[in-house]
Amino acid sequence: MKTIHAAITGVGGYVPDYILTNKELETMVDTNDEWITTRTGIKERRILKGEGLGTSYMVTKAVQELLQKTNTDPKEIDAIIVATVTPDMPFPATANLVADQVGATNAFSYDLSAACSGFLYALTTGAKYIESGSYKKVIVAGADKMSSIINYKDRTTCVIFGDGGGAVLLEPTTENLGVLDSILRSDGSGAVYLNMKAGGSRMPATHASVDANLHYVFQDGQPVFKFAVTKMAEVSAEIAERNNLKGEDIQWLVPHQANKRIIDATASRMGIGDDKVMMNIEKYGNTTAGTIPLLFWDYESKLKKGDNLILAAFGGGFTWGAIYVKWAYDGAAVSNKK
Ligand code: UT7
Repeated sequence: MKTIHAAITGVGGYVPDYILTNKELETMVDTNDEWITTRTGIKERRILKGEGLGTSYMVTKAVQELLQKTNTDPKEIDAIIVATVTPDMPFPATANLVADQVGATNAFSYDLSAACSGFLYALTTGAKYIESGSYKKVIVAGADKMSSIINYKDRTTCVIFGDGGGAVLLEPTTENLGVLDSILRSDGSGAVYLNMKAGGSRMPATHASVDANLHYVFQDGQPVFKFAVTKMAEVSAEIAERNNLKGEDIQWLVPHQANKRIIDATASRMGIGDDKVMMNIEKYGNTTAGTIPLLFWDYESKLKKGDNLILAAFGGGFTWGAIYVKWAYDGAAVSNKK
């Protein structure tokens, strides 16, 4: 029997219309365009405005686009996994709301929480469902409405994060294409450096927790930066080595968009030139689980069948990982973006 791989057969994405520029942030906190640009590479980020709109709104838009582009009947979808740390509510899962909105009435659906590495965890999980032979169409989404947990008075975090996300369709193939290898790691001792303290079972919401700003992202940037640079490069090099891929064999590095300096360090460790590194941090900032599917969305027209991609991420938890994907179709014919 031939091995079944999970091929990515389509991409959908969504970013909100509202653009929060570095200039506007200068009016909100003590920061400046020069600091933000040189330290992070970010110029602007998108913010989801509108009462009652949560992460499910963005994922629904991305999935609707995905279904339309791949000409897929939502009733054929077996499963929807949404990677997010900003679900609409603690329960039900955002993925349940999305399945209902898009008419995926035969799908089981759930959320997965692995912060900035969430899409890699969800893609690995979704691929296993396909590889088992039990499921034929699985949607994997990564999205976050980071503006819902960001303190716009804290300059150390508010300049970094943005809202958005994307989704991919996974289908079986017996060709040597799709998700070919994955390394996932986590280390909970990193929780002290990057977290949101209140709103969970340990510290439910109280007046005091709100007054103390404990429902916002806390990040001790420098230690996170050091871990991210080391671990993202390490795991990317490891997955390339064990698949006998040298820099010249890799068409695209698809790195989580947290900081341009972290991305540059990973690319340089792998011997990959700037022209082969997907980057959109300048326009969306860090959308947490949304960054990697949004890169696919932006770069789809450049992707060709057989391209070797290394996906890599590092984030809260700590969580990190890398995935080797061999792209399964020519993107130019189907991309909405030219
Ligand atoms: O995606 C999840 C994982 N997260 C990451 O991978 C993020 C990793 N960390 C980083 O990307 C960086 O640490 C940051 C971008 C968050 C910060 O950059 P940094 O180069 O590590 O800056 P820093 O925290 O060491 O701060 C340097 C200076 C400080 O001032 P002093 O103490 O030197 O006077 C900060 O107070 O910059 C100051 N600063 C700012 N200045 C202007 C911090 N934030 C700002 C700001 N505007 N927004």
